[in-house]
Amino acid sequence: MEVDKKEELASDSSDQTVNPWEVSAKEGGKIDYDKLIDQFGCQRLDDSLIDRVQRLTSRQPHVFLRRGVFFAHRDFNEVLDAYERGDKFYLYTGRGPSSEALHLGHLIPFMFTKYLQEAFKVPLVIQLTDDEKCMWKNLSVEESQRLARENAKDIIACGFDVTKTFIFSDFDYVGGAFYKNMVKVAKCVTLNKAMGIFGFSGEDHIGKLSFPPVQAVPSFPSSFPHLFPGKDKLRCLIPCAIDQDPYFRMTRDVAPRLGYSKPALIESSFFPALQAKNGKMSASDPNSAIYVTDTAKEIKNKINRYAFSGGQDSIEKHREIGANLEVDIPVKYLSFFLEDDTELEHIKKEYGEGRMLTGEVKKRLTEVLTEMVERHRMARAAVTDEMVDAFMAVRPLPNMFESEKPLDFVGSSLCRYYHCTRSMTRTQRKRVEECLEVGNGCLVATVKYLSNSYN
Ligand code: TYM
Repeated sequence: MEVDKKEELASDSSDQTVNPWEVSAKEGGKIDYDKLIDQFGCQRLDDSLIDRVQRLTSRQPHVFLRRGVFFAHRDFNEVLDAYERGDKFYLYTGRGPSSEALHLGHLIPFMFTKYLQEAFKVPLVIQLTDDEKCMWKNLSVEESQRLARENAKDIIACGFDVTKTFIFSDFDYVGGAFYKNMVKVAKCVTLNKAMGIFGFSGEDHIGKLSFPPVQAVPSFPSSFPHLFPGKDKLRCLIPCAIDQDPYFRMTRDVAPRLGYSKPALIESSFFPALQAKNGKMSASDPNSAIYVTDTAKEIKNKINRYAFSGGQDSIEKHREIGANLEVDIPVKYLSFFLEDDTELEHIKKEYGEGRMLTGEVKKRLTEVLTEMVERHRMARAAVTDEMVDAFMAVRPLPNMFESEKPLDFVGSSLCRYYHCTRSMTRTQRKRVEECLEVGNGCLVATVKYLSNSYN
């Protein structure tokens, strides 16, 4: 049985711990991902699967696939088999709103999920676990709900398609069919099993023990009767970092007993902290993380002061033996976010052989991240409360499997904008203009959707 094999994980006696609350490793904080695959019992995402993604979607695989950022999976091959036969699936991912702003690590699953949504043309549910953070982070109910909406704005700014995406807060949505599934899951998991998987102890309050079914049941289509009526066999694919795996080991273990399909997963490694000390970038130490709200100056300072360098102590020595790329954070960050494969290879070669200096690599990284964060900041500023309400409205998504693309390109956005402006209020029109300035077609589509649905 899936869970039994890895129950030791949470009470981990080995030299690394990876669970939803802690990511750490003894050896200088470096996570051994091969070992993790063995410990967790998932599968490695190999080149043949990536080639299949390319073939099925007729587009170049995302940089996170090409560079092995998403490195592990569970049954992703089965989802692709079914897709090839013409059976679609839905995507499920989430965020625990514990801080005002997301850091770059949090963006990774959302950027990747957006790519999957566009490439496979499938619907998506995004869970905001405001209840989880209220229980774990000592936040009030109201504050957790406020943070959930703030975080929703950052998520929407990533460019999701409002006609294919449902975002929900647990405090608002749990009930009805969703709650029935939670109770069914809860009845299948003993206290011993939960302690084994999640490492709960007698000191933990019972709120924590009751939470895992909440994160489990969005994996089942029947939890969303407004989206998937009569589609109980629809497969679910969950993109996330591998820290969330324990929740879904539990889910996959109970699913067959409830007559449901097991959710499939596609899992990433962690975007590391600037100092490379901990296994992952985390919101708890502001100097270890770059936030989507950081200014250009803050980004530059953080990179120059804190980004751990694999360069040598003196220029002479560096020129002689080159940088140690294995431990170098600027190169690591560039391999997540620098799109151009040729430039990345060039930097690695020149830096690794000592012809390029740390300062030059940090400068390039500063440019790449500043540009990305600035783009995000502008898109985020264009997201209104009205748009958040639109994404979070409990509503059917009638065209969610249709292959019409969201408005990706400003050109096509413009055409549609002129086509639909007549039905817009002045405020909505102004919003469209702002979104066009940012160049985010999906936001334009959201305003258009609002003008059609609510006017
Ligand atoms: P949270 O808010 O801790 O993290 C949100 C998403 O970001 C991933 N993540 C990272 N990925 C790469 N590098 C990092 N340094 C990094 N830090 C966080 C997480 O794996 C996650 O995918 N309980 C969850 C919320 C949740 C969820 C889900 C996540 C509810 N349902 C389904 C994934 C899938 C949480 O607190 O995530």
